[in-house]
Amino acid sequence: MCGIVGYIGFRDAYPILVKGLHRLEYRGYDSAGIALMNEEKNLSVYKTKGRVNDLEEYVLDKDISGTIGIAHTRWATHGEPSNTNAHPHYSQTETLALIHNGIIENYAVLKAELQKKGYTFHSTTDTEVLVQFIEYIKQLHKCDLFSAVQIALGQVVGAYAIAVMEKGNPDQIIAARKSSPLVIGIGDGEYFIGSDASPIIEYTNKVIYLDDEEIAVIKRHEEPQIVTIGNVRKTPQIKELEMSLSELERGGYPHFMLKEIFEQPQSLTNCMSGRINVEGTNVTLSGIIDHKDKFLNARRIVIIACGTSWHAGIIGEYLFEELCRIPVVVEYASEFRYRNPVVYPDDVVIAISQSGETADSLAAIELARKSGAFVYGVCNVVGSSIPRNTDSGSYTHCGHEIGVASTKAFTAQVAVLTMMALTIAKEKKTIDDKKYTDTIKELQNIPGKISQILDLNEEIRQLSYIFTYAQNFIYLGRGYNYPIALEGALKLKEISYIHAEGYPAAEMKHGPIALIDNEMPIVIIATNDTIYEKVVSNIQEIKARNGRVIAIINEGDEVIKSMADHCIEIPATKECLDPLLSVIPLQLLAYHIAVNKNRDVDMPRNLAKSVTVE
Ligand code: F6R
Repeated sequence: MCGIVGYIGFRDAYPILVKGLHRLEYRGYDSAGIALMNEEKNLSVYKTKGRVNDLEEYVLDKDISGTIGIAHTRWATHGEPSNTNAHPHYSQTETLALIHNGIIENYAVLKAELQKKGYTFHSTTDTEVLVQFIEYIKQLHKCDLFSAVQIALGQVVGAYAIAVMEKGNPDQIIAARKSSPLVIGIGDGEYFIGSDASPIIEYTNKVIYLDDEEIAVIKRHEEPQIVTIGNVRKTPQIKELEMSLSELERGGYPHFMLKEIFEQPQSLTNCMSGRINVEGTNVTLSGIIDHKDKFLNARRIVIIACGTSWHAGIIGEYLFEELCRIPVVVEYASEFRYRNPVVYPDDVVIAISQSGETADSLAAIELARKSGAFVYGVCNVVGSSIPRNTDSGSYTHCGHEIGVASTKAFTAQVAVLTMMALTIAKEKKTIDDKKYTDTIKELQNIPGKISQILDLNEEIRQLSYIFTYAQNFIYLGRGYNYPIALEGALKLKEISYIHAEGYPAAEMKHGPIALIDNEMPIVIIATNDTIYEKVVSNIQEIKARNGRVIAIINEGDEVIKSMADHCIEIPATKECLDPLLSVIPLQLLAYHIAVNKNRDVDMPRNLAKSVTVE
C-alpha cells in the first residue's frame, strides 16, 4: 500500500523516480508526489491528486533538476485523496520532506502536542505529523537528521516505511521501516529506495531489505549505514533479486490481469518445478521435510490469511483434512489477531500471502509464534516480511503479480497447498500409493488443461456481454468448488464493482434463494464430482425460480447443458484439483465484464495490491 521510491546518485533523479512511481502505481494510486533537491540545494515538493500521469503534467513548468529525490504514490488512510494530503509532506520550516507508507497510530496525541507548541498543519494526514515531529525533535535536541529520526521513531506507535530529505544536505536520504517493507538498491555510486524491488530492478539486482526498526543513512559516496532505533549498528546483508524486468511489463496484453491469467500454465509449471520429480511419482517440499515432526505431531493446522489467499486457505482445509486427516481451521488473519484465540504449542499455523506484507497476517503470525506454535509461510514475494518471520515455508514462485486482483498467485497457492498435503500425507501414511501417484500425475496435467480453458477466452468474452449490466450476481459451488464460488464473486466485485455473493450451493435455500428472479445471474460450478447430483438439484431449484444459470461444467455434460442458460465446459480432473481449473473461467468472466464496463481493471477504485495497513 502506497509506493515509495528514492534515488541518490549522479543521474537526473526525476526520470528514475517517475518511472519508479509508474512501476509502483499498483500499490496505491489516488495521488502522487515528488521531492527533489537542485544544485542550489533547494528542496522542492510537487504533488497532486490523481495518477502519476497527472503528476507528470503538473511538473511540466517546474524545476525538476537534481540528482537526489524521493517520490510517492498514495493509497489514502488518514485524509481523503487531495493535493494537500498527497506526499511528500514538508516540515514546518520546509527544510524536511518526508514520504511514508503505513499508519502512525498515536498521531493525534503527537499533533495536539505540536499544535500547543505553535506548529500548524496543512493536511489531515498522520504523515505530516511525523515530519513535523522529526523537525521538532531536531530543534529540541539540536541534533542531526539521523538522530532526530531515531529519537522520533522511538516515540511513534504504528507502522511505517519512510524516506526523508533535508534542504541543504544533497548527499543524504534517511530511510526507516517498521511493519512496512523498504528495499535499498545498491548501484555503482548510486542508491535506490523502493517499497518493493520493482522500481529498482532496472538498475541493479543487489539489494538490502531493511528489517523492522532499522534506520538507513544513505549517503552519496558511502556504504549505507544501518542502525536500529535502539542504536544497535547492523551489518547490511546484501541479497540478489530474482525478479526480471519482463515481469514488470504488460508484454502485449491490454492489462496485467489478463497477462497474469494467461501466465498460469507457466506459473504453475514453475511452482511445481523441482518439487515434483520428472516421472511424476514423488513430491517433496523441503520446508516440510526439514520440519517433518512438526506436521506429523500437529494437533491441528490453523490457516491464517486474507482475501483471495483466505479462499486458497479453505481449499487447503479440504486438502489437509481429506489427505492427511489433520483437523484444520481457517481464520481471517484480521479476526484471529484480535479475538484472543486458543493456539496450542503443537499447532502448525500456515500463513498464506501473495505479497508477504499483509499487516493483519503479520500480526496473526506474531501472535501464533508467541503462543509457541510452529509457523509455516506460503508466500510469493521472495524476501518479504512473512518468509522472514516464519519458521519455515514454501514460495509459490509464480512471478511478480501486478494486477490488483489476484489470479496466478491464487492458483500457485492452491498448488503449493496440494503439494504440502501430498507430502504430509505420504509421511503420515494417510494416503495409499495409487492415490498419491495418481494425484501427482494429474497435478502435472493441470497446466495443459488450463491452456485448454484459456482457449475459451473468446467464448467467455462473448458471454460477458450478456451480463455486463447485471446489478447483482450469485456464485455457488460445493465441496472443493465452494471456495471457488467465493473467489469468483470476489474477482467480479473487485474489478467490475458489481455486487456479487459467493455461497455454498446448498446454503442457498437457507436465505439467498429469496434473491432469485429472472434478472439474477447465478454462476454455479457444477463439475462432475462426488456431489454432482446434489448440485444438479440446486440448479433445478434455481431454474424453478427463473434464475439465469451460467454453469461451469465438465466437457460433454449433456444433463446440465439441457438445464442451464449458458455453460462453460472445462476438462475433467481429480476432485481435489478441480479448483485449479474451475477458477480460470471465473477469472476471465470477471475480467471481461470489467473491461466491458470500462473499469480500470489493474487499478480498481479504493484498492491497492499489498495491504500493509490494518
Ligand atoms: C483479491 C486480492 C486480495 C488479497 C488480500 C491478501 O484479488 O488480491 O484480497 O488476496 O489482500 O493479500 P496477500 O495475499 O498479499 O496477503
